[in-house]
Amino acid sequence: MNQTHPAYMPRIIGHRGACGSAPENTLVSIRRAAEMGAKAVEVDATVSSDGIALLVHDTNLDRCSNGQGPVVLRTAAEIGALDAGSWFASEFKGESIPRLEQALALVVSLGIKLNLEIKPTLGWEEVTVHSVAETLQQAMPPGMPILVSSMNLLALELFHALMPDMSLGLITTAAPKNWLQRLQRYHCQALHCHHAFASHELVDDIHAHDYRIHVYTVNDEGRARELFAMGVDAIFTDYPDRMLSLEEA
Ligand code: G3P
Ligand code: MG
Repeated sequence: MNQTHPAYMPRIIGHRGACGSAPENTLVSIRRAAEMGAKAVEVDATVSSDGIALLVHDTNLDRCSNGQGPVVLRTAAEIGALDAGSWFASEFKGESIPRLEQALALVVSLGIKLNLEIKPTLGWEEVTVHSVAETLQQAMPPGMPILVSSMNLLALELFHALMPDMSLGLITTAAPKNWLQRLQRYHCQALHCHHAFASHELVDDIHAHDYRIHVYTVNDEGRARELFAMGVDAIFTDYPDRMLSLEEA
């Protein structure tokens, strides 16, 4: 595999860290993925009411913390005081929702690669993208390998305008028939889609145009083998430990 490709990621990407084994999008989840042997993690970034980029997947705080309501209606200090571990298991009680800056520092110290998904609350794209870009500009060491992705097209556009040299991935559910036009239009180097939409033909076509295809979310090793046999470049998995035998040497 061409590791010099701008959107290169190792084959096995820990989804929201290692979210099958630890509370998603927390520092312990990222650390757990690396301890399992993952060479890359994916996390989701959104923003607080005071414009601080944080790792949260959902619009609301309810599912993954003891907080309630929209993330964008709480300050970073309020969000940082929440318990984001107990909902998953009592052993994680007290784990907090990290700021993007903290996650970047951890990823750097672990020596792994990062796929940063920008997950704006709809309507807050500008604030979210500006905060993510500002955090990256301030806290990302030069040359740190980060692939930024989003399913939000406005976020991709805004982010590219702010950081035109950063590699981008377009996230979709289905692989669109006009994937090439969309990747070109949004300055992306990779398509991220649900694994059900991967096929030999699609993978070959994407590679023929020098793009990459990364698919989510694959937790079955047999299915992962099928996808790699098709030529899929990387998979997102909640259980990186199950997939490590499929990582390239
Ligand atoms: O980026 C791949 C995957 O994380 C996209 O879906 O909802 O898990 O963020 P979601
Ligand atoms: Mg994600």
